[in-house]
Amino acid sequence: MKEERKVELLEELLPQDPVERVKTLDELDILLMRYESAIREIRTKFEILNDELSLLGHQNPIASISSRRKTLSGILEKLKRQGFPMTLESIEENLTDVAGIRIICSFVDDIYKVAKMLQQQDDIKVLLIKDYIAKPKPNGYRSYHMIVEVPVFFSNEKRPMKVEVQIRTIAMDFWANLEHRMRYKKDIEAADEIIDELKECADNIAATDEKMMIIREKIRSVSSD
Ligand code: GTP
Ligand code: MG
Repeated sequence: MKEERKVELLEELLPQDPVERVKTLDELDILLMRYESAIREIRTKFEILNDELSLLGHQNPIASISSRRKTLSGILEKLKRQGFPMTLESIEENLTDVAGIRIICSFVDDIYKVAKMLQQQDDIKVLLIKDYIAKPKPNGYRSYHMIVEVPVFFSNEKRPMKVEVQIRTIAMDFWANLEHRMRYKKDIEAADEIIDELKECADNIAATDEKMMIIREKIRSVSSD
């Protein structure tokens, strides 16, 4: 069923002419490869920051990094859902989350530290910042989001590629994963109760994240390393 829809949507992107069809499919492969390359560029930037900050005594500001390139069916479904043209240009123009990277930090202040360090790099263009930590969503969601553009160098051109960066703490990530699971259960029983409980957990997590920073500072002030 899902595969059928995928093929159906791909039909909308592909021209009728057989030669043009093959050309478009090739271009589509290249476009998807470009997004994967952009993810690698951004991942490397964060890995380098983490390595350097660790050496400077900051003890791994980044706990882990994960990334994903939106699937072809995900891309086509989003274009369709949002009423954008079904073309390759439209993907690049209208979608900002084909390439996504998630940075998980132990502490809230590290989120702002690494975000700022990326923003200051002179090949990075920041297109959008959404700070759901300073301003949590009504459901309690907290995370620092950025859409950035990074240049990627290919055989005969340099392409600016958009990447969605999400930065959150381990605890915020734990919460977001569970909340995400509930979101896709449409007719869930006791939904209201679960929503309330999740909101309460989100607020507790935020308070705990704050406390953890205070405790870390106390430990720092008494330890010699
Ligand atoms: P999408 O079109 O849904 O991708 O979101 P958007 O364009 O409104 O951007 P936003 O920055 O709000 O969200 C981007 C991504 O953040 C989403 O695709 C999710 O991965 C994540 N996200 C945002 N809000 C929530 C939330 O309430 N719960 C969870 N679990 N994840 C969220
Ligand atoms: Mg998205």
